[in-house]
Amino acid sequence: MSTPAEIYDELKGFLDFGEPDAVRLRALAPVFAKHGSTITDDFYVVLGKNAETAKLIEGRVDALKATHARWMAELFAGDYGEGYFNGRMRIGMVHVKVGLSPYYVEATMTHIRNAAERIIHQNVADRGEATASYNSLLKLLDLDLMVINLAYQEERLDLLTKVTGMKRGLLENLIKQGQKKK
Ligand code: HEM
Repeated sequence: MSTPAEIYDELKGFLDFGEPDAVRLRALAPVFAKHGSTITDDFYVVLGKNAETAKLIEGRVDALKATHARWMAELFAGDYGEGYFNGRMRIGMVHVKVGLSPYYVEATMTHIRNAAERIIHQNVADRGEATASYNSLLKLLDLDLMVINLAYQEERLDLLTKVTGMKRGLLENLIKQGQKKK
């Protein structure tokens, strides 16, 4: 089975995420440096309104806002290689470890997508360029989510390995066989 890093590279190819996207994202860096904090602020308002997510962020919103701002700056840094993947995988693992259900991460990305679309269209005058830039960002946000999901998947496989005492490769084969039988 492919490693998470190999899957990340494959998905970049699958989404046709490449240098033109990196160039567009880099060009958006000043826009998001100026307006991105509104996304972060709104994000934590949303998390604060839901019982399960609110209890996880209680008393640490300011610290989390700072990490969120770093996460956002990295979206527009233009380097999406191994270092980027490792950082995103680590962020995924942080969410696994706090016991957050993965579907909250999936669902909250909607707020980031919507707010980013508004910011780009308000600040990039050329409509064609704004749309192309937004599409590049959507690809990267999807890649980020895929990596976070890989972190959840890795953790579940590790847990099964620990609980059953079975080797990782054997478990992966059993899953594959089970899928074929469906
Ligand atoms: C698109 C979705 C999300 C993004 C991009 C995101 C981003 C981040 C980042 C960058 C960190 C810092 C990781 C580190 O370097 O240590 C973090 C930590 C954290 N996030 Fe999220 N997050 C997302 C969704 C959520 C949701 C839905 C919750 C629900 C409560 C949440 C709760 C937390 C908590 C509690 C931590 C701190 C964990 C710890 O250090 O104990 N995040 N997040």
